[in-house]
Amino acid sequence: MTETKRITEMNDEEIKEEVRKTYAKVAQPTGSCCGPSTRSNYAKTLGYSVDDLPESVTESFAGCGNPTALASLKEGEIVLDLGSGAGLDVFMAAHQVGKTGHVIGVDMTPAMIEKAKENAEKLGVTNVEFRFGDIEELPVENDSVDVIISNCVINLAPDKSKVFREAFRVLRPGGRMLVSDIVLEASLPQETRDEVASYTGCLGGAILKEEYLQKIRDAGFTDVHIVSEAAFNIATSAKIEAFKPK
Ligand SMILES: C[S@@+](CC[C@H](N)C(=O)[O-])C[C@H]1O[C@@H](n2cnc3c(N)ncnc32)[C@H](O)[C@@H]1O
Repeated sequence: MTETKRITEMNDEEIKEEVRKTYAKVAQPTGSCCGPSTRSNYAKTLGYSVDDLPESVTESFAGCGNPTALASLKEGEIVLDLGSGAGLDVFMAAHQVGKTGHVIGVDMTPAMIEKAKENAEKLGVTNVEFRFGDIEELPVENDSVDVIISNCVINLAPDKSKVFREAFRVLRPGGRMLVSDIVLEASLPQETRDEVASYTGCLGGAILKEEYLQKIRDAGFTDVHIVSEAAFNIATSAKIEAFKPK
């Protein structure tokens, strides 16, 4: 019998490949015949208005919060979504920033990027774009974005400090970041940290809340604070805001 490798024995590229495999599956249509999929209903419980959206936009939703509900987006702003999946938050943001604004989604899973592009076409939304890439090396210019959002993604990145340094680089001075993510109240048991499914399921790669906030500060952000949080046992779904100084 072949033993599955532990995530803690893998290098960063191997970990990312496991994440990609998982989310390529999540990108597959659910073929829900009889009403909204479980993920669409889940999005509703987080406050998303999804009734008028095609099932293909919501069936692959895998967030742990609703960042655009908290980001106070304004008409004309340029927004970047780290790990945009099938595009739900990008489309929410696109509506809020209007025709004079622009929203970029970045994701490293080709099936998600493809699905998000198809969804944009289906919705006829033109102020959005989806770029294939790694949030540890953002395909985005320096100082070019007003607001960064992200929904349950950074916990999946092996090098979170790199993600926050990249976020800082692409934000314009005075720009802000509002991320929803899983953080920990206490360290996970070793067997949970070893499991591939636990990592790709947004728990195993999560780090302690204070460590997460410190990594954001270390990247140069100021006024780093928790906007709201909901604890589920050892893990917390936290909404965190931070600013790039002017
Ligand atoms: C849990 S899903 C969340 C997707 C989306 N934000 C949502 O709320 O539905 C995680 C997404 O992040 C992407 N992702 C994970 N690590 C990434 C990385 N290092 N760079 C770019 N995308 C990444 C995955 O491909 C997947 O689409």
